[in-house]
Amino acid sequence: MSSLKIATTAGRKVRSARAFVHGLFDTAHPLLVQIIPIRRCNIDCGYCNEYDKVSPPVPTEAMLSRIDKLADLETSVVAFSGGEPMLHPDLERLMRYVTGSGMSTGMTTNGFLLTEDRLKRLMDAGMGRIQISLDALNPTPGTPKSLKTLRKKIEMVAKYPIWFRVNTVICEQTVNEVEQVAEFCMNLGVAINFSVVHNRGRLTKSLNNKAYLDRVRWLKGQKLQGRPISTNYFLIDYYEKALEGKPVDWTCQAGNKCYYVSPAGDFHYCYHVAPQMPLAEVTRETLAGNRGRKGCEENCGVDCVLSTSLPYSNLAAVARIEARDNLLQIRSQIKQKVAGLRA
Ligand SMILES: C[S@@+](CC[C@H](N)C(=O)[O-])C[C@H]1O[C@@H](n2cnc3c(N)ncnc32)[C@H](O)[C@@H]1O
Ligand code: SF4
Ligand code: SF4
Repeated sequence: MSSLKIATTAGRKVRSARAFVHGLFDTAHPLLVQIIPIRRCNIDCGYCNEYDKVSPPVPTEAMLSRIDKLADLETSVVAFSGGEPMLHPDLERLMRYVTGSGMSTGMTTNGFLLTEDRLKRLMDAGMGRIQISLDALNPTPGTPKSLKTLRKKIEMVAKYPIWFRVNTVICEQTVNEVEQVAEFCMNLGVAINFSVVHNRGRLTKSLNNKAYLDRVRWLKGQKLQGRPISTNYFLIDYYEKALEGKPVDWTCQAGNKCYYVSPAGDFHYCYHVAPQMPLAEVTRETLAGNRGRKGCEENCGVDCVLSTSLPYSNLAAVARIEARDNLLQIRSQIKQKVAGLRA
């Protein structure tokens, strides 16, 4: 890893830790907002219901006033998602506006439209994080995000000093390819974040699926060896329990620590529940009032909300799991070093 990349990573970790601690004391502090600049997508993934083929981009002026509102609400990170965010013609201007308003920004993309020139322009505009979604080895009608299509783009982004990870969904079509997809990323030194496919936010269809559980455990084993799996241990633990049908008692913090802004400008806890109100009407009191149970926690599969919520909802359990597994990881890395010295 280059020294610039190490410095960028260290700076980001410090900022995340600071935002996390701030969130412990400020009951109306949104850490992560997912904002959708366009619902349209240029491809079709079989598991996705978050896109269409016809919607125009949200007008730039409307996006700018939503960003003003997020800044007023003292948001830490504004993440562009979709649909496919790169289809928005003013994405660079929007990102520049977010960073100019004192917030951090990034995007999750299918990567199909990413070129080196566009990456540089987005980074110039202040993009500090990029996540490329990659599910399969070869494209199939239900899983177009494949290594065959995205390998060069991933290799290209990996050269830049930007927070970067690959997102992989464990689903029926890709469950037997997870290991090879992960090996490609890990060998390149790119962090991989995995989630388990959900159906409109519910893990229901994935429960008791032994193959999914096996892959989750394999990925955890890789992380324990110190390989770059960015999914937190506490989220892996959640998936293990949920997939085994064990109850997890947690309180979703969506609407408070994280939330979703639709192309229509509505404020949702997450994409999978109806809007609470227009974003324009949200106040700090609204956010502070959203800390309680949502009623749909059981078998929730919305990974970005789970990873933001669990530390605030189950702080002691999360701290215990992270301490236990990080210790196991350090032990395993020391063992590997000793074995290497002996060989
Ligand atoms: C809705 S997409 C939008 C951004 C962009 N089009 C992309 O695919 O990265 C955001 C993320 O949600 C994931 N996703 C979509 N539907 C899902 C589902 N049913 N289960 C799990 N993850 C899903 C995608 O794989 C992607 O990583
Ligand atoms: S690329 Fe993203 S938005 Fe488009 S269909 Fe796939 S997951 Fe959905
Ligand atoms: S528990 Fe939270 S993230 Fe999950 S579906 Fe309900 S509101 Fe959405």
